Amino acid sequence: MAAREYGSGVALQVLGRVVAWLLVGVFAALGVLATYNSLATDSGALGALNLLLAAQSGWGKSFKAQHVIEKNLPEYDHVVVLDYKDEYRGLVKAGLARWWIGGPREASWSSSTWHDFIQAQRKLVVARHDQMQKGTWQSLCASVIAGARRLGDVLIVVDEAHFVAPQTGKVPSPIEGLATTGRGEGASSMWVTQRPATMEETVIAQCQARLLGGFESDADLSKIAGIVEYNEDLHNPGERAVASVPEELYPTDRETPVSLQKHENDEGHTIGSEWVYSDNTGERERRNTEGVAAEMESTHYGRQGKGIKV
Ligand SMILES: Nc1ncnc2c1ncn2[C@@H]1O[C@H](COP(=O)(O)OP(=O)(O)OP(=O)(O)O)[C@@H](O)[C@H]1O
Ligand SMILES: [Mg+2]
Repeated sequence: MAAREYGSGVALQVLGRVVAWLLVGVFAALGVLATYNSLATDSGALGALNLLLAAQSGWGKSFKAQHVIEKNLPEYDHVVVLDYKDEYRGLVKAGLARWWIGGPREASWSSSTWHDFIQAQRKLVVARHDQMQKGTWQSLCASVIAGARRLGDVLIVVDEAHFVAPQTGKVPSPIEGLATTGRGEGASSMWVTQRPATMEETVIAQCQARLLGGFESDADLSKIAGIVEYNEDLHNPGERAVASVPEELYPTDRETPVSLQKHENDEGHTIGSEWVYSDNTGERERRNTEGVAAEMESTHYGRQGKGIKV
């Protein structure tokens, strides 16, 4: 009798645990979906997630990143932009963020100093001092990230991310930790790069959402092939006609699938570019940034790049 009572007690306990775990699973799944959807609708907060924004040089990454940052500034208590090439000054000029140069003095700041500083500034663009070497910038970024992550509700943007989280050499643990565990702390991240092929694999794998533009390098295109679930030729602007592309990734005004393109005006200035947004919930959409500048409060100060007359 005692044994039967014990047996049924254990069975009840096991059943209770199964139900509890099922409930935890359902709530976790709902939470993740809500987060993805907020980005997918392109209208609200990013939620806590990691976004990879990648395209070849000059495609308009920093422009698009600034657009995403602007839309999300009101959604986060704290935003910090690690600005390798000093391209996000427009946010500062529009009064949307504070500006600080990451120079030799700041390179020695501890993560606690950065924590307090970002807490006080709330929305901050840290521009790399133009004399600062990549390695010093990487360790400065590690301290900023370690300090910022502890703030909880924070969006951390890493431009030229292949220098901060490169595939070769050791990536400082706070940087990798932002991609692997940041979400659990409420920290979202946006990794902006022109060289996904040379970026740390763990960081790329931990990005649950992606905005990918055009690439001409074979190494980058094959990296993209490992990330997306459709024909990666879509991301080769030179390819034009592309076979077997899902319908939602066709350009809006055409009936045949062509690869993503960059749009230029008569003076050769970029006025927009095409992207594919995709995330781990299966959401997929082709997007065009032409005309987006009109929606923005801030100006983007990226370089158009100069041709050489021959
Ligand atoms: N949608 C757009 N509307 C207007 N101008 C744009 C748009 N997209 C890009 N540009 C302009 O094109 C130029 C290149 O864009 P951007 O600086 O964002 O490129 P990038 O991909 O970040 O290049 P890099 O890898 O060299 O940093 C900039 O002058 C930018 O303002
Ligand atoms: Mg850029």
